[in-house]
Amino acid sequence: MVSKISKKGYGSEKESKFKNIFNKILPEIRPTAEEIEELNAYSNDLMGRLKKVVPKDVEIILAGSVARGTQIRGNSDIDIFLLFPKTTEERLMEKKALVLARKIVKKGYGETFVINYAEHPYLKLISKKLDISADIVPAFKIEDSADMGTAVDRTQLHNIFVKNHLNEKQKDDVRLLKYFLRANGIYGAESRIEGFSGYLCELLICHYGSFLEFIKSFADLELPLVLDIIKGKQIRSADEAPKDIDFFKSEFIVIDPTDKWRNVAASVSRESISRLVIASRRLLDKPSVNNFYGIKYSDENSRSSLSRMLQKYEIDVYAIGIEVQAISEDTLWPQVKRLRGKFSDSLKRNGFEPLLELQNLTKDRAAIAFLMNKKEVHANVIEGPSVFMKKGSYAFYKKHSKGQNMFLNGDKLCSIEKSKYENADALIKSAFKDPSFSFPPDIRKRNCRIFINRIPEEYAKLVYSALLQKTGI
Ligand code: UTP
Ligand code: MN
Repeated sequence: MVSKISKKGYGSEKESKFKNIFNKILPEIRPTAEEIEELNAYSNDLMGRLKKVVPKDVEIILAGSVARGTQIRGNSDIDIFLLFPKTTEERLMEKKALVLARKIVKKGYGETFVINYAEHPYLKLISKKLDISADIVPAFKIEDSADMGTAVDRTQLHNIFVKNHLNEKQKDDVRLLKYFLRANGIYGAESRIEGFSGYLCELLICHYGSFLEFIKSFADLELPLVLDIIKGKQIRSADEAPKDIDFFKSEFIVIDPTDKWRNVAASVSRESISRLVIASRRLLDKPSVNNFYGIKYSDENSRSSLSRMLQKYEIDVYAIGIEVQAISEDTLWPQVKRLRGKFSDSLKRNGFEPLLELQNLTKDRAAIAFLMNKKEVHANVIEGPSVFMKKGSYAFYKKHSKGQNMFLNGDKLCSIEKSKYENADALIKSAFKDPSFSFPPDIRKRNCRIFINRIPEEYAKLVYSALLQKTGI
């Protein structure tokens, strides 16, 4: 039998090429001894300070990638969990944790903090001096996921699982995987990325054994993919899956070994998986350090090559620049997405099909952009009700029939109408004047501006980097 691997030519020669590549990359992404030393010292310092202020029944643990030794160089954020007894009332726990965490912030040491909102509000302590931040997160102390009070309670169990199941070489493989995903814009479970969380990376390396085996598998990925990490196997049919779970709603499932009810890959979008498939194929086809780091352009080069592309194809860029309040990205991103969707629907309904849609967000600015054909639309088709909807179709007919402008599409009445907007410009502008065109709660109409092709620098940066990310496959 010819194995899949030898058939594809992953002989020892290619394997050793990969070894060389990884040996070049790892020293760059593995934290240095000094960094680890500094992180350990600082997390011990913070935990010591916390110990002085928290009640005896609250346990303090270090979690996340720093605790597990799977962090990437220069990207380590300390995750400290305050574990409260399960008997504590949840809101009280949240309140207490914030008060306690606040007590240990030392302004004199150049430390500041922000309150972030996830499952619970938590405090992010920022040390400007050391350039390290530490999340101090409350959770309930549990031994088993069955006792779970809130979703973050699992983290302590994740810690134990990863520590028991990954060896040192595999921790480096987790780093390779995290870095590879980041280079391709799909690392992180947050709504703007819809990608792979740190814990998911750890589980995938645990399952596939190494980074190389992982990308070999993903280059040939077939969906659905359901992984049972505890059993170390792929589930191929519904009857092998844990009972009572509608697991097969999703196409990519990684069952949390600490909680069989949880899909660790729930945050991963189909587009993110597809990006990974493409990136894996590229790296396998042509193993090189450059291909590992993904498609990279210098900002200026990429800007001019993108604008040449737009000119060559005679594409117009319609951009909406938005000034936003500094609120959490996980709140704002879906709102920007929703607004983009509303404009997009409206464009499509009026005969302007965007070639590509983009959105981007920084602390104080958001941008939505549509790449459009230069075109004028003089007439549109309006689709009405089925003729079998007696009242509705009668009314539609009466309203729209102007002689020879109606036809049936199946049972649906359609009418050809003079278009309300000759160009996309007019349409977008009119949406801003239309009081019934509602904006999401944290986006103010008056903070939006429309640009066509000539986009001021502060928004052009956002549009181009989104375009670069979108087409960087
Ligand atoms: P982090 O987002 O900091 O991830 O969450 P990480 O594993 O430390 O990875 P990097 O290296 O910083 O990017 C810290 C821990 O919180 C839990 C996980 O156990 C994770 O390891 N967590 C985080 C969740 O359970 N769910 C989440 O959505 C996020
Ligand atoms: Mn972390």
